[in-house]
Amino acid sequence: MSDLDAFITGLPKAELHLHIEGSLEPEQMFEFARRNGVEIPFGSVEEVRAAYEFSNLQDFLDIYYAGASVLQTEEDFRDMAMAYFDRAAADGVVHAEIFFDPQTHTHRGIPFGVAANGLLAGMAEAEAKHGLTSKLILCFLRHLDEEDAFRTLEQAHPWIEQITGVGLDSSEIGHPPSKFERVFAAAAAMGLKRVAHAGEEGPPEYVHEALDLLHIDRLDHGNRSLEDPALVTKLARSGMTLTVCPLSNVKLCNVASIEVHPIDEMLRKGLRATVNSDDPAYFGGYVGENYRAIARGRGLGRDEVVTLARNSFLGSFLPDEAVTAHLERLDAYVEAN
Ligand code: HPA
Ligand code: ZN
Repeated sequence: MSDLDAFITGLPKAELHLHIEGSLEPEQMFEFARRNGVEIPFGSVEEVRAAYEFSNLQDFLDIYYAGASVLQTEEDFRDMAMAYFDRAAADGVVHAEIFFDPQTHTHRGIPFGVAANGLLAGMAEAEAKHGLTSKLILCFLRHLDEEDAFRTLEQAHPWIEQITGVGLDSSEIGHPPSKFERVFAAAAAMGLKRVAHAGEEGPPEYVHEALDLLHIDRLDHGNRSLEDPALVTKLARSGMTLTVCPLSNVKLCNVASIEVHPIDEMLRKGLRATVNSDDPAYFGGYVGENYRAIARGRGLGRDEVVTLARNSFLGSFLPDEAVTAHLERLDAYVEAN
């Protein structure tokens, strides 16, 4: 391991773009399938991993939703979350804001509360075990309709104090942010933060809609914003955080290779970019590996790596005092290493 690799691993960081269902490793998929008596269309862990070759977002989503079918009980959700938090802690993550997709579960008859209670139990356990704090973000599946999203928001009511915000994920092209303008307005009225995937595969216009119609507090991916200089200026001036996912971008063929990833271009243009893992079980690496790969691929120096980690705290939904405390700890680490 290079000096920079070791420095990255110990660097305190927040993860802001992580689909918890995307942290389900094939081994755990088999374990849950066995204990729940669920059939999966794979014979072995190797066979599952071999199937993880994607040419676009939809290719991945098809297999990701199929994989989620093994999640049946609160214990499954808790165990999956704990497996993620154990790995995140080993990668220097001290705070995580995790997404979950309730409709993926409610649509197969698993009540909202099974997912929510299981994840919240895992989050409490991670704080007790690792001192790792976390927040939960409910994502609406954008390929489903507005009414379904409203129903999901209603189902969330009993847990609303434990949910920090709403997000928008799944198939981007053909499902613009405008489709969810009213749902996001309702979420805002409930005091929830708002984030949305935009500009991952979709055009810059979708990022404009996320900003102007959904009034997002944070932009997930946002890569294609770079095609629109006026949009870049708008994002930079407003201090919008972009949750960039380098290995995901390569695996889903949105970026040709890690060597041509635009993370440093984003920083140079004044964008508050962060590094995240998206769906680490499917894309070949957790957040530490995303930092190490992008640093290696783009020849980033220590300063750029530190900026990315600083941005992760600045872009979090933690209160100001907590952000300040994290930044102080980060500065102390940089000073000492
Ligand atoms: N994009 C959109 N939807 C998703 C993703 C993603 O990268 N991961 C899980 N759901
Ligand atoms: Zn994502």
